[in-house]
Amino acid sequence: MIRSATTLGKDLIGLEPLSREQIEVILDTAEPFKEISERRIKKVPVLRGKTIVNLFFEASTRTRISFEFAEKRLSADTVNIGAVGSSVSKGETLVDTARNLEAMRIDMVVMRHWSAGAASFLAARIPSNVINAGDGAHEHPTQGLLDILTLRDHFGRLEGLKVCIVGDVLHSRVARSNIFGLVTLGAKVAVCGPRTLLPAGIEELGVRVFGRVEEAIEWADALNVLRLQLERMQDGFVPSLREYNRVFGVSRERLEWAPRELLILHPGPMNRGVEIDSDVADGPHSVILRQVTNGVAIRMAVLYLLAGGSPDLAEAAKSGKGVRP
Ligand code: CP
Repeated sequence: MIRSATTLGKDLIGLEPLSREQIEVILDTAEPFKEISERRIKKVPVLRGKTIVNLFFEASTRTRISFEFAEKRLSADTVNIGAVGSSVSKGETLVDTARNLEAMRIDMVVMRHWSAGAASFLAARIPSNVINAGDGAHEHPTQGLLDILTLRDHFGRLEGLKVCIVGDVLHSRVARSNIFGLVTLGAKVAVCGPRTLLPAGIEELGVRVFGRVEEAIEWADALNVLRLQLERMQDGFVPSLREYNRVFGVSRERLEWAPRELLILHPGPMNRGVEIDSDVADGPHSVILRQVTNGVAIRMAVLYLLAGGSPDLAEAAKSGKGVRP
């Protein structure tokens, strides 16, 4: 079937509004892009002539660098801007910043911002494609997609797969994108954590809630372990980090009680010894670094599709064909 190149629309703000087919198009398009990162010369001329601005108002290692690798491997011209060192530090607004970038004739903006809704606010005001690289506690769609791709790679299916998201769900845009994407694709999703770190009404998103990590381990096929976002917390969310680790930490001893071998994911950065112990993070069932590798392919796929690339031509795009002029 020839699917429309405009399947995703202008922007990628979140997974909540996407259909099953739209998510599957991105996952399937990422497949042929994986191989490019394994080549000696990791470059194809797919986005030659496109100018992409990476606008990161919050710290990032994985997302910022993998977007930049994805853009460079597709031959786009890229510019990186942070809050520090730009005129945002002098009080310039987000829209004025973006309008000035538009005046220099850019094609796409990848943005991380501390405020939920910032990406859709920007997308409504500029003609360039906008990709949300994380906005407050709202969504982090490319992280959700790379987590889902990693699960699909391992299990070969998503329908009926039991995935439990463990930890600080309250502050997590990663949790929301995973929930929206996985539920849409037919997976069974649960969350587990202290009540203080679970949003009120989370069940309405179609997830089960476990109050004990032992219950989650007994139920799940995979655990996606979340970082305690200490920078977004005031006192009182957890009694202490040591107490959190004792009650909710994912440790080898706890996993030994699992009725089946659990796949372990973590979006990073990790607080080792808090939400996850090192022997689990570095253990045989961890796919944490595979998530990072898949992140480049997912971001290549999203950039390619939003630039007008046809999913059916992604294989051909490996040699530079398949993107509209
Ligand atoms: N997973 C993730 O978003 O990591 P960074 O904050 O390092 O980009």
